[in-house]
Amino acid sequence: MELHINANRVVGARDMMIYGHFLEHFHRQIYGGVFAPDSPLADTQGFRTDVINALKQIKPPVVRWPGGCFVSAYHWKDAVGKTRRPYFDKAWRVEEPCTFGTDEFLAFCERIGAEPYLCSNAGTGTEEELADWVEYCNLEREGPYAKMRIANGHKDPFAVKYWSIGNENWGAHEIGAKKTGQWGQYVAETAKMAKRVDPSIQLFAASIVNLDWNIDLLRQAGAYLDWISVHNYWDGLWQVNDVAPYEKAMLYSLEVEAPIRKTRHILGALDYLGKIRIAFDEWNLKGWHHPNIHQGSALEKRDYLAPRDKNDINSDYTMADAVFTACFLNACLRNCDCVGMANYSPTVNTRGMIYTHAEGIVLRPTYHVYDLYVNLMQEVVLDSFLTGGDGTFEVEAGGKPKTIPALDAVATRSADGKNMSVALINRHPDKAVDLSGACPTECTGISATCLAGSHKDDYNDIGRESSVKPEPHAVALKEGRYALRLPAHSVTILSFI
Ligand code: AHR
Repeated sequence: MELHINANRVVGARDMMIYGHFLEHFHRQIYGGVFAPDSPLADTQGFRTDVINALKQIKPPVVRWPGGCFVSAYHWKDAVGKTRRPYFDKAWRVEEPCTFGTDEFLAFCERIGAEPYLCSNAGTGTEEELADWVEYCNLEREGPYAKMRIANGHKDPFAVKYWSIGNENWGAHEIGAKKTGQWGQYVAETAKMAKRVDPSIQLFAASIVNLDWNIDLLRQAGAYLDWISVHNYWDGLWQVNDVAPYEKAMLYSLEVEAPIRKTRHILGALDYLGKIRIAFDEWNLKGWHHPNIHQGSALEKRDYLAPRDKNDINSDYTMADAVFTACFLNACLRNCDCVGMANYSPTVNTRGMIYTHAEGIVLRPTYHVYDLYVNLMQEVVLDSFLTGGDGTFEVEAGGKPKTIPALDAVATRSADGKNMSVALINRHPDKAVDLSGACPTECTGISATCLAGSHKDDYNDIGRESSVKPEPHAVALKEGRYALRLPAHSVTILSFI
């Protein structure tokens, strides 16, 4: 196959925040994940130093917190200051100790060099609760909450930029769910107050790819919004943890752009394209496993708590997750004119890219995809297309064969035009694909780094931490043309210097 790059046609400049992250107070993401004061691997602030160091390598631009469903009954004032108020978390049916609150999260973000993104309680929380939180974080000293921050030992404002109104308040699964019509009004009133406390903040609101919901939201509150929040998980494992095989994950990888396209069209129809950007602020191939969460308390803890450990089976996180993740990031790059943020959901434990255990961490294959994209891809996305070859394979879908293109490619260049990097994905489960193309005229050198594992179901785990890791990859260069073989189930970054 051949890749054609039109270096003169710019798709747009990608925002680094498409490589963002999400952490929720669920299972072992916070407690036992990033925050483990009793662990010998923790620092004086209680953060796992191995997690901090691994995160620094992938330069997290933004972290969304504290939820997710958790947030819809969370009151931030319970978790600041010397006296914390533990409570029963009605979202996940466990006690929330409140020992990791706003101050701890903001200190964590500072340690890893990420912007904090706070998601507010639009379930049981009042419209004013978000404005109070903005006051606590961002006002010099005006008002009781800024004074509370100072009393808590933080004289200077935290200057938190990103604030979301609500999580998935459109859904019956969410505590304090809202109806179309109610939601736009709630967002408008919340936004009005928050922006009056600090007009410099950027506001997000929970949305679903649904015309009525979004039209009402944008008509009533669009003028206040900078972002519209979209979520999606493709392999819905919430109730039954029957992880999709590699081939089915590749089918899912063809669907990643649909929510982006639909949201783009709704924004366009209401003339908000270019004013409101899409934040895909929860996404993952795999939905989190938390069965029986909505049934009443009749069920034993063994029915709804114990099964959450099944999110931590490292052999479930294979090249399927890595290839899917790269396909999603390619979709964000192709749509960088309207997608400005995406948050891997979540980052640590559960379906995360980093798994923690008592003696250390395991970097799952998805972590290495972020390492490749964050550190090797450039900032300006160029037009490109593939021709030639039979780069397709078939997978059965709904009883009939579905043709899947093996290759997915996105080309980028540095702002100064000196460097170009191309993300090349081969979805094929067992066949390599040969790719060639013309080097950009000013190219003086070429290199490739490839993540493939030894088979499509390869994974990393305790004792086999490096079974799947990026490796240098051979590229032929002759008379201004390059050629390389893209292994089956692989993600390769081709860099021209
Ligand atoms: O399964 C985890 C949940 O998925 C998050 O808490 C929520 O935002 C989404 O529905």
